Amino acid sequence: MDFELNELQIAIRDTARKFAEERLAPGARERDRQEIFPREEILEMARLGLMGVNVPEAYGGAQAGAVAYSLALTEIARGDASAAVTMGVTNMCAELICAAGTEEQKRKYVPRLTSGGYVAGAFALSEPHAGSDPASMTTRAERKGDRWVLNGAKQWITSGDVAGLLVVWAKTDPSAGSKGISCFLVEGGTPGLVVGKPEAKMGLRASHTVPLLFENCEIPAENLLGAEGEGFKWAMRALDGGRIGIASQAIGIAQAALEASIAYAKERKAFGRPIAEFQAIAFKLADMKTQLEAARWLTLRAAWMKEQGMRFTREASMAKLFASEAANRIAAEAVQIHGGYGYVDEFPVERHLRDVRVTTIYEGTSEIQRVVIARELLR
Ligand code: CAA
Repeated sequence: MDFELNELQIAIRDTARKFAEERLAPGARERDRQEIFPREEILEMARLGLMGVNVPEAYGGAQAGAVAYSLALTEIARGDASAAVTMGVTNMCAELICAAGTEEQKRKYVPRLTSGGYVAGAFALSEPHAGSDPASMTTRAERKGDRWVLNGAKQWITSGDVAGLLVVWAKTDPSAGSKGISCFLVEGGTPGLVVGKPEAKMGLRASHTVPLLFENCEIPAENLLGAEGEGFKWAMRALDGGRIGIASQAIGIAQAALEASIAYAKERKAFGRPIAEFQAIAFKLADMKTQLEAARWLTLRAAWMKEQGMRFTREASMAKLFASEAANRIAAEAVQIHGGYGYVDEFPVERHLRDVRVTTIYEGTSEIQRVVIARELLR
């Protein structure tokens, strides 16, 4: 057993940490208030290699592995959770194209995702009536000569309005259930791709989440990603990796909430003493740190298994389930420790609590993670 990080992992983590502290954290409050997408900051992250951490160098990535990716995403989330989700989804799209794509698709699209040529990628799987059950999607793709024609609606699409490339799932054979789903690469701005108004969200307000409409949206035949009918499996494989990303994001937010709480508890006085000296507060901090470390190691283990080429579906779901639930408890305790000041935006913990809330919902709810874990246990 080896808990040491290698030099490359440390370098990527420290690069992400420095960037998050110096370039992301100072403006996070204002971007959240005004729902401003951090375009310049995201482009700088691409230049630092953070948009393709686990992508081969041949396609513009940093080729640093899944553990380095988890470490980097945690650091970015500690500075700005909205930037972290943009990073997570873009990395997920780049990795998916590397895994499922033709050489031509990889050469054409992956470097644009990793280098900032596209400010972000988007993962268009969910629909208004198909979230936890994506196999029931109704978006259609029909082959017409050398084109695919897409029709339907997608919902909750992170970065859908800014993405240069969208990975889109649609039914190519509606009678075949999950085996009738295929996956497509759609460039942003393609005629027939209609981008809706960003949702007014509780948290992650600097990351835009939009509905999409496909109205006779035509794409070239060669933009089918993977074989026809194999889209569902590619979505599930991508989500296995994506769930490590969301767990990492939750850990970063929780880390920020804990650090803010420690600083506040040492400084704030009540009854003539810093509140950190009261066991009621000190024990909260101890529990927060313990849960945070358990989440961190569960997540790094899932990332390590992915990096070793092992099957990691169950471990990714366990990491995502535990980390997101723990991070929600930690952020709620952070607000409690801050008392009234925790409830106003002068301190960052109310934002952390709003930002962390979605981590038990997107990329599979906690209930779906339990389904995955139980099925893996019982099969
Ligand atoms: N890896 C590879 N293949 C997999 C797989 C995996 N992890 N999971 C399932 N499959 C395969 C199965 O083996 C099966 O293939 P065979 O029939 O050939 O054996 C096929 O896929 C269908 O599997 P299931 O019958 O298990 O499928 P299901 O319909 O019962 O669904 C589910 C399973 C786990 C509930 C799945 O639907 C699921 O994960 N739902 C949640 C969806 C989700 O996470 N959405 C997130 C949206 S994206 C997002 O939030 C991004 C963002 O913007 C932040």
